[in-house]
Amino acid sequence: MNELNSLVDSAHKLFSAAPTVTDLENAKAQFLGKSGRITELMKGLATLPVEEKKSRGAAVHAAKVAIEGALGTRRAELAQAALDKQLAAEALDVTLPGRTVGGGGLHPVSITMERIESIFSSMGFSVAQGPEIESDWFNFTALNTPEDHPARSMHDTFYVQGESGGAPLLLRTHTSPMQIRHAVAHVKRHRGRLDAGQGMPEIRVIAPGRTYRVDSDATHSPMFHQCEGLWVGEAISFKDLKVSFTDFCRTFFESDDLVLRFRPSFFPFTEPSAEIDIQFQSGPLAGRWLEVAGSGQVHPNVIRNMGLDPEHFMGFAFGMGPDRLTMLRYGVSDLRLFFDGDLRFLNQF
Ligand code: DAH
Repeated sequence: MNELNSLVDSAHKLFSAAPTVTDLENAKAQFLGKSGRITELMKGLATLPVEEKKSRGAAVHAAKVAIEGALGTRRAELAQAALDKQLAAEALDVTLPGRTVGGGGLHPVSITMERIESIFSSMGFSVAQGPEIESDWFNFTALNTPEDHPARSMHDTFYVQGESGGAPLLLRTHTSPMQIRHAVAHVKRHRGRLDAGQGMPEIRVIAPGRTYRVDSDATHSPMFHQCEGLWVGEAISFKDLKVSFTDFCRTFFESDDLVLRFRPSFFPFTEPSAEIDIQFQSGPLAGRWLEVAGSGQVHPNVIRNMGLDPEHFMGFAFGMGPDRLTMLRYGVSDLRLFFDGDLRFLNQF
């Protein structure tokens, strides 16, 4: 290999090995700089005889072009590498799924409550709310359950310090006190018409909410939900209870062939009283009787405590358990799942 070829060759090697642009420019200076090898060779041409100058000059020029070519190639390589590096660092994977904002959802029991409210609203019932800290009077006495009544023992609850109108305070054991509260307010609003013997618009209300008892197992929780229903007028009978509650259950469970059974029972505030059982005709619970509510014709003493004359007013009441309705609707077997706050369970609704 002649001297020029090996010069070109060493420029090639040096340039290819230059890791950075700065290294490359320093390497370039060795060949093409002011006192670089090629520059020196060019200067040396001046002293050569004319003939030799021509051929030697062409050869040096060719070497210079080759070295410049190698330099250009390496510059392009380094620029591309720098660009690739930047692109990799700033890469965006547009195929990644987007980050969604986790939408909250309603608790399954709230879904049931809303469902109950919308079904009864469509039947002309209004929705009332009442206090969870209730007086002994509204929770028991006004509901025909005096202090020594044995039915009180089934409603063991949590007592709260203080009193209201001389009666002790407690966490309400059922939503039934709302029967009295709502009816008393309703009667007060229509007192004028009543006193003038003009009658009164019917009381037709449901009262959903939280209730409390000293009870805890797979089907009982110290805090649970109830929904009370009350319809009082001049001739509201057990037949109306059967029709409206049957309608409600069939709509709630979306099952037209659902069968209801009114099983005689006892509650101090109704006479006669009945437990309401339902039976599905298909699905996993088909054929079994499942208790969903207590109900009955409102007791005359309770009508009286509402401020009405039992000779003129009558009606029915019921109290059901939205927690149990939720368990039946979704096939949940342990009530406690509703109140553990475990998102793996709650996210399924
Ligand atoms: N309050 C009753 C309970 O918690 C349920 C109940 C039964 C409510 C009969 C009613 C009713 O309104 O008429 O056990």
